[in-house]
Amino acid sequence: MKEIGLVEQAAVLCGGGKILAAGPQRQLLRDPWLRTNRRKIAEFDCQQQVVLPGLIDCHTHPVFAGPRLIDFEKRISGASYEEIAAAGGGIRSSVSAVRRSSRGGLSGKVLTAFQAMLEQGTSVVEAKSGYGLSLEDEIKSLEAIRDAARHWPGTVISTLLAAHVVPAEYAGKADEYVRMVCEEIIPRVARRKLAVYVDVFCERGAFTPAQSEKVFAAARAHGLETRAHVCQFTPTRLHALLEHQPASLDHMDCVHDEDIELLARGQAVSVLLPGANYFLGHKEYPNARGLIDAGAPVALATDYNPGTSPTTSMPFVMSLACTHMRMSPEEAITAATINAACALRLQDKKGSVEAGKDADLAVFAVKDYREIAYWFAWNRCVAMVVAGKMANIKTQTVFS
Ligand code: NIG
Ligand code: FE
Repeated sequence: MKEIGLVEQAAVLCGGGKILAAGPQRQLLRDPWLRTNRRKIAEFDCQQQVVLPGLIDCHTHPVFAGPRLIDFEKRISGASYEEIAAAGGGIRSSVSAVRRSSRGGLSGKVLTAFQAMLEQGTSVVEAKSGYGLSLEDEIKSLEAIRDAARHWPGTVISTLLAAHVVPAEYAGKADEYVRMVCEEIIPRVARRKLAVYVDVFCERGAFTPAQSEKVFAAARAHGLETRAHVCQFTPTRLHALLEHQPASLDHMDCVHDEDIELLARGQAVSVLLPGANYFLGHKEYPNARGLIDAGAPVALATDYNPGTSPTTSMPFVMSLACTHMRMSPEEAITAATINAACALRLQDKKGSVEAGKDADLAVFAVKDYREIAYWFAWNRCVAMVVAGKMANIKTQTVFS
């Protein structure tokens, strides 16, 4: 993760939405095709600034109606996330608002978030439902993601998170809700191709490991892939979930030491979400050093959601990773690009600047890549190339 493959005085040749060649400028300019076709190309001068592959935000919850300010204030006064949820706040309070919202209203909000992400360097987003919690409202949420994706130049990977919490009308009947998710929602979403992944919140107050396994089994039986929220508050042994070959396990705040070895030997990516720790005011952060030093694949994401992480900024998350999880700037870049692509199983197309991959590039107004994580909460992204085209982002000050 420390090896980012830095090329100085570099150039990238794009065509047909793909990267055709990338490397030292001098070498690229010797390309025989380029020599004879110089006039056919449009040149964009990055002025010696830093170009990364478009950042990949591999864990977000963008389909919600509004902020949760009461939860925010209660937490400031000392209540914990779990206490607020148990008292009827938390995820369930976002559910009633989503149920009242129209698909069009929700997709407008999703698109606004995608645009904010793009302006901060992100060109690929994983987007979950999870505040509908009924067949109708989960489908409405996934349709809102699909509608927004059609108006956004980047790539969107949709995830069904019907197993986020047990909705109020199923209180005390969690198994019945899980059965409905497995027998009605998952089959319908799979048939309509509304999601690629199925996620589950495996946590006390949400779903047990046994219930999570049922959700995973149903997902795979219907041709969908899996990922889970796990070990955010409760240490959970991971062996059983890993048997289902999830693409990623996310949060991972309290992972058992022996499971770190298991993760190092396996394919599942640990997606760390330090924005949630920051916003919940936690002193503890996930053990990124333990995971990385053991050789486990680690990615970063915003976890953009109204309850624990209302940020759309991957560079801010990279900064948190450096300052609170002692990841190096190089590791943070790897975690936000190629490792995040692996977490979405997109590593053949996304996540690095290499010939043959999609031409998704982020230009930052900095001279040194380490500044991206350094200037926290300051957006230095000045240009985005998505599928080989310059994307429309608000013009930023260009630093010289
Ligand atoms: O990833 N932990 C579960 N889901 C979200 C929070 C959702 C919410 O509070 O609205 C998360 O942190
Ligand atoms: Fe989440």
